Order: sequence, then structure tokens, then C-alpha cells
Amino acid sequence: MLAFCVWWIFCFIDFNRTLATTEPTLPSSPIENVYDYKNIESKFALRTPEEPDEDTCYLVPGQVETISQCNFNHTSQTFVVIHGWTVSGMYESWVPKLVDALYKREPDSNVVVVDWLLRAQQHYPVSAGYTQLVGKDVASFIDWMEEELNYPVDNMHLLGYSLGAHAAGIAGSLTKKKINRITGLDPAGPNFEYADATIRLSPDDADFVDVLHTYTRGSPDRSIGIQKPVGHIDIYPNGGNFQPGCNLGEALLLIAEKGLADVDQLVKCSHERSIHLFIDSLLYDEKQSMVYRCTSKEAFEKGLCLSCRKNRCNTLGYKVNKVRGKRSTRMFLKTRAKMPYKVFHYQVKVHLFGTKNWTMSNQPFLVSLYGTKDESKNIAIILPEVSTNKTYSFLIHTEIDIGDLLMLKVHWEKESFFSWSDWWTTYAFEIRKIRVKSGETQKKTVFCPKEGIHSHLKRGKEPVVFVKCFDHTHSKNHD
Ligand SMILES: *[C@@H]1O[C@H](CO)[C@@H](O)[C@H](O)[C@H]1NC(C)=O
Ligand SMILES: *[C@@H]1O[C@H](CO)[C@@H](O)[C@H](O)[C@H]1NC(C)=O
Ligand SMILES: *[C@@H]1O[C@H](CO)[C@@H](O)[C@H](O)[C@H]1NC(C)=O
Repeated sequence: MLAFCVWWIFCFIDFNRTLATTEPTLPSSPIENVYDYKNIESKFALRTPEEPDEDTCYLVPGQVETISQCNFNHTSQTFVVIHGWTVSGMYESWVPKLVDALYKREPDSNVVVVDWLLRAQQHYPVSAGYTQLVGKDVASFIDWMEEELNYPVDNMHLLGYSLGAHAAGIAGSLTKKKINRITGLDPAGPNFEYADATIRLSPDDADFVDVLHTYTRGSPDRSIGIQKPVGHIDIYPNGGNFQPGCNLGEALLLIAEKGLADVDQLVKCSHERSIHLFIDSLLYDEKQSMVYRCTSKEAFEKGLCLSCRKNRCNTLGYKVNKVRGKRSTRMFLKTRAKMPYKVFHYQVKVHLFGTKNWTMSNQPFLVSLYGTKDESKNIAIILPEVSTNKTYSFLIHTEIDIGDLLMLKVHWEKESFFSWSDWWTTYAFEIRKIRVKSGETQKKTVFCPKEGIHSHLKRGKEPVVFVKCFDHTHSKNHD
């Protein structure tokens, strides 16, 4: 089993490599929407809340009676779920989970699962090429619903994972009327990163296209998830290249817990996280993750992007605010390793005063936050550089809601290696104010030393304590 899953990853990369030297299977120009219902190979299973894991009834384009046979609800919205490439030729375990979550959130909706398993179990480049035909199948299904039944395309939300995201995009580009929304769940990267917008998911494919990028690792032509933005809103959780809880150590723990059956799951952990983040948004209505617009992952890590002004922040997943800019908007957030994934983001800004001219790299700090509801202790952060008389800004996050901030502690840790200079020098900076901004509440809090007007933060010594400044107007004039 382990060999199998290691193979999964390598064959993905390997197929990708071989494609460069063999004929491309993706067409160079978009295909046309001329339908012949007999040529539709994909199947459209209307699943039920009672049996989210079974294809019990198929909606067949051209056969109107299947609509009533499957108890399709004309007045509710429809979710169309499109799976990706599959080695086993079977549905992966996330399919019933997503179906179930959609029905939990919208009990009256219609959840249709597109079965293109036969085409999805070929060599990767072949399956990648088939996304065009699958997209055409889905488009003809939607047009049929619209023309035959007057079913409004405004009620259509397509959700595609990996290769399925591109199939959804093709479908959206071919329907006669524009569908309401496409959600791309870590759209596949190989063969699509440099592909023309007409043959992959793109913002033109629906009124609103939102995309989650969760496994965009390595060089662009090798990345499992597409790296470039392909929607109106492109969200890169935890920077987008790798997800917490998906590393090997944690993977081995999970094997110990759940057994080897889930090994395959682990290899795709980061890729599939996109789906679970969406499921999370369906199930935990009161714990919606916030996302923030930012030009780069680096700026986000500095805490510089926690603004909500002018649609700069949004909600991840189902309840996203459908903001359409001229260009794709890149958005970022941190998440927990497990569901519910929501965390609380803070920007911490501090000026380090001093009389000695010091510059040090990779300094470890521990920050503890105390609030009206709870506290979060010893949040570890490493500042790449600290030097005298400079201002630093960085991002920290808590897994719990600690409420309004009351107190803050900072501890400057000793370096992990033994440093002789610590014997004869006490490295210290003077801090007068610490400014903290919460992304989730947008509240700004200014902290002052608990005692005196400045605190000495000494390396390897006791933590320093800061409390909310009493007089904001007064304190503003002094920094
Ligand atoms: C169809 O959906 C509507 C809500 O959109 C609901 O009120 C109605 O009960 C549903 N009909 C059936 C037969 O389930
Ligand atoms: C501190 O060091 C910088 C360069 O590292 C130098 O430009 C500056 O003059 C120094 N300041 C003092 C007070 O020594
Ligand atoms: C830092 O700035 C203060 C004035 O704000 C000055 O007295 C001190 O010498 C500066 N330190 C260095 C190392 O330049």
C-alpha cells in the first residue's frame, strides 16, 4: 500500500514529464458546443441525503422522465460535483463527504455527481485531455436542463476537484447561458499551468469563479495544483504549497490511529485539503475562515494584509462574498491542521529601541496573548532579522477565539546553539509600545509596558509583560 501511494505521487510527476516529449492530448483551440445526447459518456447521478455514497438514480440528457424519477427539485439550487483523476477507477472517499455536507447545509438542493471514472483512470495526460469532453458533457447536461425544463442556470453551482476543476471550467465556457458559480478545488497543475485560458478553468467560465490552491509545490510544471490564479478570487491557504497536518511525521501518527487504509489519503493530503476546507465552510457556519487579499505570501507573513477595507477581506468557501475585480485576486489565510480549520490572525508591530548597534538574524520569540475570553500562550515566531532602532511587523495566529485583547507577554528565547557572547553581553532592546491588529475583528490595540514607560526585552531572560495602554491619545504622541 505504501509502495502504491509513493507511486501515485511519482507517476503523477512522471506522466507530466513524459507529456513534454509526446504529443499533447489537450486541444489547442476551444471545442464547440454542438450536442448529440447519444455521445454523452459522463453520467449524472442525483444523489440523496439518505445515501450520499451511492449513485442510485441518473439524470439522462434527452430523457425527461429521469427528472421526476430521480425526484429532482425544480425550485432549489443544484450542485454539480466533478471528481478528478483516479488511479483506482473508483470514487475517492471525499465524494460522499462533500455530498453529505452540501445536503446538511442545503437540505432541499439537488447534488449531482458527475461520473467520468472510465476516462479518469487513464494515464494522467490522457485523462487531462478528456477534461474537454467531460466539460462538453456537463455543458450539454446543463443546457438540456435549461432548455427542456426551464431550469435557471443561475441556480447552478459547479464544484470541481483537480482535473474536475478544469472540466467545470470547460463546461462553463460552453453553456449557452452563463452559470452562476464554479468553485475550483485545487485545480490540477500538470499540463494546465501554461495552457490557454480556453482549455482550463478561468474567470470567464461563470459569473463567479472561486478557487482554493492547497498543493502548489515545486516548479510550476511539476506542481500538482495549479499555481497561477485562475478565478475571480484565488485563495492560497497557508501560502498554498503545503498544508498543516500533512507532513510525514503527522502522517505516520495518523496511520497509527487509523490504520494503513488511509495511506493513499495522506499522499494527497494537501491536494485534497481544498475539498475539506470547502466542506468545513458548509458545516461550520459559525466558524467561517476569513481570507485576506495580499500581493505575496511574504507580505502576508509579515501581517501586512489584515485589512478589510474595500473588499480586501472575504469569507472562505460557500458563503464567499462574490467580488469580481478586473484581475484575479490572490487571498491568503492560516488554518488549523484539522476541521474546524478557522484561526484568528493578528498583526504585531513593534519598534526596537536601543543604544547599542545590534543586528541579529533568525531570532526566536514567544508571544502570549491574553483576552477577555481565553488565552493563547507561547506562540513561536522567528524574526529573520532584528536590529536596533527598527520597526518590525509580523503575523501570529491563535487556534481559539481569545476575545478582546487585554495583555501580552513577549519572551526572547536563547538561540538554540550555545553562544559564548551571551556570557559577557546581555542583548536587550527597549520597547515602548506594541501594536496589535486583529484580522477577524479589525480592532487595533496598543500595548504599553506594565510598569514604567519602557520595557527591556533581554535575550534568554524573563518575559516582559504589556497591558492595554490607558490613554490612547496620550500614548500616540510618544512614538
Ligand atoms: C423543493 O425545494 C423547496 C425549496 O427550494 C422546498 O420548499 C420544497 O419542499 C422542495 N420540494 C420537495 C418535493 O422536496
Ligand atoms: C549602526 O550601524 C550602521 C551600519 O551597520 C551604521 O550606518 C550606523 O552609523 C551605526 N550607528 C551607530 C550609532 O553606531
Ligand atoms: C537609536 O535612536 C535613539 C534615538 O531615538 C538614539 O539615541 C540611539 O543612539 C540610536 N541607536 C543607535 C544604535 O543608533
